Amino acid sequence: HTKLDSFPNEFLWGAASAAYQVEGGYDADGKGPSIWDGFTKIPGKTYLGTNGDVAVDHYNRYKEDVSLMAEMGLKAYRFSVAWSRIIPDGEGEVNEKGLQFYDNLVEELITHNVEPVLTLYHWDLPQTLQDKYGGWESRETIPAFKKYCRALFERFGKKVKYWVTFNEQNVFTAMGYRWQSHPPNVSDLKRMYQANHVINLANAEAINLFHELVPQGQIGPSFGYGPSYPLNARPENVLAAENNDAFNNQWWLDVYCKGEYPVFVMKQLEKLGIAPEVTEEDQKLLLSAKPNFMGINYYHGGTVRENRLENTVETDVETKEFSATDPYLMQPKNEQAQSPEVPMFESVSNPYLETTEWGWEIDPVGFRLALRRVYAQYGLPIFVTENGLGAIDVLEEDGTIQDNVRIEYLEKHLLEMKKAISDGVEMIGYCAWSFTDLLSWLNGYKKRYGFVYVNRDEHGEKDLKRLKKESFYWYQHVIQQNGENI
Ligand code: BG6
Repeated sequence: HTKLDSFPNEFLWGAASAAYQVEGGYDADGKGPSIWDGFTKIPGKTYLGTNGDVAVDHYNRYKEDVSLMAEMGLKAYRFSVAWSRIIPDGEGEVNEKGLQFYDNLVEELITHNVEPVLTLYHWDLPQTLQDKYGGWESRETIPAFKKYCRALFERFGKKVKYWVTFNEQNVFTAMGYRWQSHPPNVSDLKRMYQANHVINLANAEAINLFHELVPQGQIGPSFGYGPSYPLNARPENVLAAENNDAFNNQWWLDVYCKGEYPVFVMKQLEKLGIAPEVTEEDQKLLLSAKPNFMGINYYHGGTVRENRLENTVETDVETKEFSATDPYLMQPKNEQAQSPEVPMFESVSNPYLETTEWGWEIDPVGFRLALRRVYAQYGLPIFVTENGLGAIDVLEEDGTIQDNVRIEYLEKHLLEMKKAISDGVEMIGYCAWSFTDLLSWLNGYKKRYGFVYVNRDEHGEKDLKRLKKESFYWYQHVIQQNGENI
């Protein structure tokens, strides 16, 4: 690959996690309950009823985890803050002990030359805000979010340079308000679009407040992006792919980066009476907030064709399988009738791609496309805040974990990222998902992502021992070489 550019010298080779998936300590030091503490206790919602009460005990073992990061040579660690540790009821008193935990973590990272990347919201809304206001459906949650953000900006503004506002707004709104597979466990599109709008406002408020309080820092949302493909060159299918892109990407990215909703999607929602209420004040606010970068989480894209189910919803869809964890693939029948996008495209599997054990398409070229498209359309530097392979890992008797499939997956994606950089895409860094194994929201500990194996499973906590997988050494080498070996 002699023609490829090198990775920038300051490129942040990182790894990521989220509070609920690693910390445990669900009620430690004054933490209030979050909507995930409650949701995981509803029978049948998660794999074998797993929850994050203990998770991988990062709350107590963060020093050990950071020392493994240092050993690896990791340049950046993306983590999220649990809002209900900082403000237990979401809007009242600030809990110093909660702040202290993240202060300790940040200090530990900085001491070991690992750049902290702080996510403000990775899905764990304080339960009190859900109960009192209806969570993101209500504008009253916005000042609460601002208060929480202010507490963090003031405390960490000098130490933390990179900040993420919302993680995968597209995923958590769809899962929470469409598919009933995340809290608040609702299936109602009008409510989904309303909540989504309130989150857009909260995102804009947070960005503006950040620029006021932390002018030297950088902030942006992390979006779960998948490139949209037509099944073939048939113009109707190409149009369907455009529609899919509008509904699943532009609907969010336009708001983040241009400060306005795409007209095409808004028109469809208006026709169905499910468009969010957008005031003039809202429009001004959205226009005023400018992220410094776009965070992109990349797992896979989506392939579509012209919708042929439109008139045969009842019969066709019933037999169609869908994955309980994947908003892109799911089309349960009762949603078809009221979904505005249904007449616009139909999801199909891509005949050219293989899938993971969980049915997610493996598509490294789609990664290059994703980076190219987002950069071309929005012109912001890109920070890849997640990418990785969920797989069943086997702990061998000799204590090794031979996750060569993960290495192969990551290597291919890094190569495509290097090509994207060579194409001219401006990039800040890349955070693999994840550093240690962690709780998969719906798949327990069976589906693992880490460079570091954690010895526990759905049935018990065991000793929670950390063991380096083969991929740990591989990534260590990539970082040492600044990707020259890719
Ligand atoms: C992303 C989330 O959607 O995908 C992560 O930001 C999540 O929190 C990751 O863990 C992988 O999802 P899953 O369902 O395979 O655990």
